[in-house]
Amino acid sequence: MPRINKTVILALLIATSSIFLLFQLYYYRQYISKNGLHVFGGQGSMSGSDAQRHLIKRFLGLVHKYSLPVFLVDAVSLDLLSQDTLLLKESKLKEPHCLFLCTHREFTTFALLGNLWKYDANLIEAAEERGMEVLEIRGKDPRLVSMDDLAGNDIPLHFLFKKGGRLVHLVVLYERTGKYLWHGPLRLKPNIDRKFAPFRKLDYGRHAGAYNRPELALTMVDGLDVRIPRNFSYFLKEHSQARFLECPFREARAFYQLYPDDLSPEAMDFRMKAKSLLHLAARTLYELGVPFWLSSGTCLGWFRQCSIIPYSKDVDLGIWIKDYRHDITQAFQKAGLPLKHKFGKVEDSLELSFQGLDVKLDIFFFYDEGETVWNGGTQAKSGKKFKYVFPRFQLCWTELLELKVRVPCQTLDYIQANYGPDWNVPVKAWDWKSSPPNVQENGVWPVRDWDEVIQVY
Ligand SMILES: *[C@@H]1O[C@H](CO)[C@@H](O)[C@H](O)[C@H]1NC(C)=O
Repeated sequence: MPRINKTVILALLIATSSIFLLFQLYYYRQYISKNGLHVFGGQGSMSGSDAQRHLIKRFLGLVHKYSLPVFLVDAVSLDLLSQDTLLLKESKLKEPHCLFLCTHREFTTFALLGNLWKYDANLIEAAEERGMEVLEIRGKDPRLVSMDDLAGNDIPLHFLFKKGGRLVHLVVLYERTGKYLWHGPLRLKPNIDRKFAPFRKLDYGRHAGAYNRPELALTMVDGLDVRIPRNFSYFLKEHSQARFLECPFREARAFYQLYPDDLSPEAMDFRMKAKSLLHLAARTLYELGVPFWLSSGTCLGWFRQCSIIPYSKDVDLGIWIKDYRHDITQAFQKAGLPLKHKFGKVEDSLELSFQGLDVKLDIFFFYDEGETVWNGGTQAKSGKKFKYVFPRFQLCWTELLELKVRVPCQTLDYIQANYGPDWNVPVKAWDWKSSPPNVQENGVWPVRDWDEVIQVY
């Protein structure tokens, strides 16, 4: 490896001929693909990279014939493209080699825009005629899970095209109500999908995922016409945190059977206002590039009833303190949400409240403390401090009220920390200073700091 590396660097330094550079990198990539991960057998005399390009070419032929709205989403290929845009230009001019689409792995991943595609069973037949083995993985359409009668409806979630020990993975992306793209999980059954079982470690499908609809660009990669997301780095960033959780629709339905939904005009009015406040807050924070998640009662409402709890009176969001920005308050004010109160300070127990139309927006900032994380509370009249402690968690996407939002992936742990084991029973009398099982008294703010840490408007 070091020897090859040096060759590449040397070549960079001395090459006046771009052809020379191209060939150096080509052989370097070949070297990696032969010496990187183990290569599956049955390739005859073709090198892994040749076999991969051969398969991709056949696959793209199929894509062309059936007008499939397909684009490249392979994480390694996109990463190579983002590092090597110069080489991409070169590779368009010279004799094509598989520099980007063939990586050290045995598969290349594309996505299919499911809403722009009409299912055609001939596709699979045609692929098989071209010497590819095809596996179609189907699953329930989550957009219908909340409706009893339609729950049996299966849709294609993934396709695997295999030839010569190589694979093209096609992920089907569906547009959902929040105007985002969703793909389902990919579960291979080792006994049944034996031929495909070696490919269990794919980029997409360990979990369901969610993406904003990317702007696409048609370009030539390795001599092949391919659509790619225009902004690779944005897409790759999304990919690294795309995990999606479905709202537990079945459990929510069971909850509503025990506790029928409040359909009074007041409750309907509150839900409508809370929904528009949530959309406005999400847009404002998105423009600032500040990630947030549903917290407290809003998170409970999502998890328990896939909705807003009508008597909760406010919308609660969580933000990591590392993502705090000084212009958050100003941005909300510009969006028509004046600051109602500010408790604590950036170093300790920060909490912001903004006044929406009859509904308050509470933003709690979360602090890291080893195995746990916490957010603070302040009682305005006494200066007393409180601390709410949670087990550490990651963030996942989900959908609430036609909006793509984040929640803690370990939602049950988060909810139980905050509401105890009986979180599934509605409680209307809730005291934020004493009811949560995870609340701790945390001293009192010194009186001299009150002007700073207790601001009420
Ligand atoms: C691409 O996405 C990155 C974020 O990953 C962003 O900073 C950048 O501005 C985007 N570029 C364009 C041209 O939109």
